[in-house]
Amino acid sequence: MATAPKAKRYYVIDFDSTFAKIETLEELLAISLKGNKGRDEIMKGIRDITNAAMEGKLSFAESLEKRMALMKSNKKDVETLVRLLKKNVTPSFARNKKFFKEFGNDILIFSGAFKEFILPIVKAYGIPEKNVFANTFLYDKKGSIVGYDKKNPLAQKGGKVIQLRNLKLNGEIFVIGDGHSDYELRESGLASKFFAFTENVSRKSVVDKADHVVPTFDEFLYINALPMVHSYPKNRLKVLLLENIHPDAVARFKKEGYSLELMTKSLGEDELCAKMKDVAVLGIRSKTEVTKKVLDSAPKLMIVGAFCIGTNQIDLEECSKRGIAVFNAPYSNTRSVVELAIGEIIMLTRNVFDKSVKLHAGVWDKSAKNCFEIRGKKLGIIGYGNIGTQLSVVAESLGMDVYFYDIVEKLALGNAHKCDSMDEVLKKCDAVTLHVDGNPSNKNLISARELGIMKKGAILLNLSRGHVIDVPALAEHIKSGHLGGAAIDVYPREPRSNDEKFASELQNLPNVILSPHIGGSTEEAQKNIGEFVSAKIVDFVNAGNTYLSVNIPNIQLPELKNAHRFIHIHHNSPGVLAHINSTLAKHKINILGQYLKTDEAIGYVITDVSKEYDNAVINELKNVPHTLKFRVLY
Ligand code: NAI
Repeated sequence: MATAPKAKRYYVIDFDSTFAKIETLEELLAISLKGNKGRDEIMKGIRDITNAAMEGKLSFAESLEKRMALMKSNKKDVETLVRLLKKNVTPSFARNKKFFKEFGNDILIFSGAFKEFILPIVKAYGIPEKNVFANTFLYDKKGSIVGYDKKNPLAQKGGKVIQLRNLKLNGEIFVIGDGHSDYELRESGLASKFFAFTENVSRKSVVDKADHVVPTFDEFLYINALPMVHSYPKNRLKVLLLENIHPDAVARFKKEGYSLELMTKSLGEDELCAKMKDVAVLGIRSKTEVTKKVLDSAPKLMIVGAFCIGTNQIDLEECSKRGIAVFNAPYSNTRSVVELAIGEIIMLTRNVFDKSVKLHAGVWDKSAKNCFEIRGKKLGIIGYGNIGTQLSVVAESLGMDVYFYDIVEKLALGNAHKCDSMDEVLKKCDAVTLHVDGNPSNKNLISARELGIMKKGAILLNLSRGHVIDVPALAEHIKSGHLGGAAIDVYPREPRSNDEKFASELQNLPNVILSPHIGGSTEEAQKNIGEFVSAKIVDFVNAGNTYLSVNIPNIQLPELKNAHRFIHIHHNSPGVLAHINSTLAKHKINILGQYLKTDEAIGYVITDVSKEYDNAVINELKNVPHTLKFRVLY
């Protein structure tokens, strides 16, 4: 039995602020008025007329007449506009060029603007000249624009409707545009659907009447099941950012086209749960707790971005159980900590801090006694990790002689000396600084015994974790004069907010700098964190890269070229990879590359395949036992 032919469908697309980012007549006028003193005023006038027409407050014919009366352009200006337009095709149109090339014959450009600059743009997208319906200029002999063809239907009131009716098209008609005249095609009954396009402008009066609102052309293609360049419209990815995340991160997400909701504060558990239903990416800092209950109310959550160093506030195990990737910024404030440590070593070695306190109290204590340069002095670093190693390099460049100890075998940078024990560092050095991690076994790493073997008059810094030092013992060794001073940034008990009072045995002791856990707190670190975490998130969304993820096995993937990528996160159970591969084999899928990494809890398999395959495989892969998350990327 013969099947009925599929109904023909036409796509009527507006040009200004839809296909192109700009309003062309405004731009043409701006080009011709370059250098004219009254430019701003004339431009404002033309903009008001455009807006009135777009909102349906002025007929298009009237608005065109008014705007053309202000026009003082010529052929050269039109050429300049074409060059500008080439760079200003709306991004989601530009990236879907392939769709236009494939469907060019079914696409009709309907515009009240002018063919002279529309044609060079849309022809490059495979839309034939016969499908472009727009006005035309009248030029004088010198090439100046002196008017336009008023007989053209598009120059008249209700012009788009007249033009479409004249075409007597047989088939379904979808209209995409941002203005009232586009909606009129639907109102007239000629078009079956009107899609309000809001990537460049969003007009309430138009949006309210639309059958669908499409924030990008990807969304239009997606809801109509048409071929698109991306596997999924990015505007469908909802990102919730709490706690005033840095503007650089916000800008990156905007550029990607995600739907953003921003909040300056953190949210309590219940408030957060109520917001999580559609959220795919959650961005937090240290105050927001991501609990099991929050994760339970977030069925679409793919990623938690911790725009900070620590991840204690996130239930990582529950994230892993759901295949949710967590990213943080472990290194973004390393330099900030190093600089503070260097500054403090100098301040303590020169006794500046004490002298400043005295001077504030009116005491002039000018003397060189017990004040030293740091050049040639021995700096001991306990914990030779990110911070320890960077401090080693900077201290050495200032002429210090660096000794370090780490429980793990580490390569000495520059001329630093590796020591076999912590005691060796403590006994040898004029200044000792602690940069170990927060492992509970490091509690009281520096107690009375360790302080006792330090050189007399040496100084001690702690910018790592509060529990690492036995604070009362340190206070005793300062009071006794055994140690020459200390700089402490972290404490066993720290106030939870600026409103809570701080108390420590170290207060009011001589030559002791106390700072409120600000080692990593700089504007630069905040910016670095914003850039680092947002880049990791975008890279995971776009390519599946998990490099430096806190909880998903780390894979740095090659760029996706001419392939589709299957991303599969599963419970690490025997047989999952075999199951995936037998499914791929059953569908005769050509595998271009496969990457696998597992840890005790999770398996992460990425398979790059040729673009042509039977779509049934997608559902089968989603249903492989132990699957946590599956998605296709292209
Ligand atoms: P990291 O993990 O890169 O380095 C820590 C190093 O300490 C590792 O090499 C580890 O093997 C070593 N280590 C651990 N226990 C040790 C021990 N008992 N003896 C000798 N070595 C030991 O960490 P990173 O990024 O260098 O940070 C260091 C510390 O600084 C962390 O505790 C971190 O929380 C803290 N930090 C403090 C900031 C502040 O605002 N004050 C800001 C940033 C980090």
